[in-house]
Formats: sequence, structure tokens, C-alpha cells
Amino acid sequence: MSYIVADKVAKEFGNGDGKVTAVRSIDLSIEQGEFISIMGESGAGKSTLLSMLGGLLSPTRGHINIGGIDIYSLKRDKLADFRREFMGFIFQSFQLVPYLNVLENVQLPLAVTHHSEAAKKSLALSALERVGLKDKAHRLPNQISGGEQERVAIARAVVNEPPILFADEPTGNLDSRNSAEVMNLLKKLNSEGQTIVMVTHSRLNAEYADRIVEVADGGIKDMPVMRAMC
Ligand SMILES: Nc1ncnc2c1ncn2[C@@H]1O[C@H](COP(=O)(O)OP(=O)(O)OP(=O)(O)O)[C@@H](O)[C@H]1O
Ligand SMILES: [Mg+2]
Repeated sequence: MSYIVADKVAKEFGNGDGKVTAVRSIDLSIEQGEFISIMGESGAGKSTLLSMLGGLLSPTRGHINIGGIDIYSLKRDKLADFRREFMGFIFQSFQLVPYLNVLENVQLPLAVTHHSEAAKKSLALSALERVGLKDKAHRLPNQISGGEQERVAIARAVVNEPPILFADEPTGNLDSRNSAEVMNLLKKLNSEGQTIVMVTHSRLNAEYADRIVEVADGGIKDMPVMRAMC
């Protein structure tokens, strides 16, 4: 069985006349260590699918299996533990906490762990080193650039070394240079073994992945990776 398996997942919001089918029926298998891009038009259901894969939104029908576990069969607090241990998230509307410095922002996911304060700091500094921002650990978010803020969000998502990273439009608000920097960083994390599931509108960014799929009409289909065809 693949590492992440979506089995005929569907999601409907509301009911009666107000019912919206965000995802009709999707089957998707993702291997450990894979980097996959999910594309599709606005409103196609990409974020809904990502949230369901990431244990944040239970499907109306179907199952999500991760590492052999049917995650929505877990009790609420067990699912939260599972998410904390196995998943890191980078969202389109990520927000760093403005009154915490870079280092403190990156340390946030460690708050509920049993590490000592010194160990938390050292883990956060090493995550910042991986994204090339160790020297800016003591700045506030508004004292660094947008691209750097996005990299801080990535450091925060990987600080507890979760096996899977979910990213929804991680370069949505960045110019092309910063965007390429973030994509190269994701590629590097992936080459170090991180499984990455990324939603993007950008074909250019999608090409950094091993595989591209398109969500359309509530379903999913493979798209050719141009780079692989060259
Ligand atoms: N909580 C909700 N309640 C009702 N409808 C919703 C909800 N969340 C999403 N939808 C609807 O489900 C559909 C899919 O939304 P989704 O956010 O998954 O799209 P998307 O592909 O991520 O779009 P975008 O590229 O604009 O981010 C849309 O029609 C949206 O309006
Ligand atoms: Mg979206």
C-alpha cells in the first residue's frame, strides 16, 4: 500500500439547495519521499483535497490512509497527535505571529512537546539554518522580506521534522526570484527525504515536483511533467 492513499474521497459542504460539491470522488496514492504538485482552476477543490489529506477536514465519503492508518477513524485528540507528529503545514494565508521574533515563531510547534527550552531553541535554530535564516533569528517578521517570511513559515512547518509537508500555494504572494528560492528549498527538503504535497497555480512551480496531478470537475487526473519529457 502507498504511504498516503485517498480512496474515493468526496466532500460536500452544506445541504439541500445550498449544497456545494467541492470534491466529487478522488483516488490518489502518494509514495513516501515523493514530491507531488496538485494543480487546477480556482474553486476546483485543491485546498479541500489538501485539508482532507492533512487530517484537517473529514471527507463526506471515502477514506484517507496514511502509513496504513485510516486517519479519520482516529478519535479527535489522537488525530491531532497524529497531525503533530506526521505533518507540517504551509498555508496560502500563513501568518507569522507579529510580536514574536523569527526564532520564537519557529519554536511554536514545539510548545506542546516535552523538549527542554534549550533543546527547543536548538531545534528551531537548526530549522532556520536549513532555510538559510539563522542570522535573522532575532528579527521580528516585519523586519524581514516576504520571501524570508515564507521561509520562516517553512522552518516552522519542518521544525519537528514531520515526515510529510503539505503546502497550499507556498509562493502565492512572492515575486519570481523569491518564489524560485522557496521552490529550491522545498526541492532540497524533498531530496533529504521529506514527502511533499503542494498545491499551486503555477506550472513553473509545479515542475519542481516528481509528479503533477490536476483536480477538475471534482475528480483528478495525471498531467505530464515537461521536465521529465525533455
Ligand atoms: N467551508 C466551505 N463551505 C462551503 N463551500 C466551500 C467551503 N470551502 C470550500 N468551498 C467551496 O468548495 C469549492 C472548492 O474550494 P477549494 O477552496 O477547495 O478550491 P481551490 O481549488 O483550493 O481554489 P483556489 O485555487 O481559489 O484556492 C469551491 O466552490 C468553494 O467555494
Ligand atoms: Mg485553494
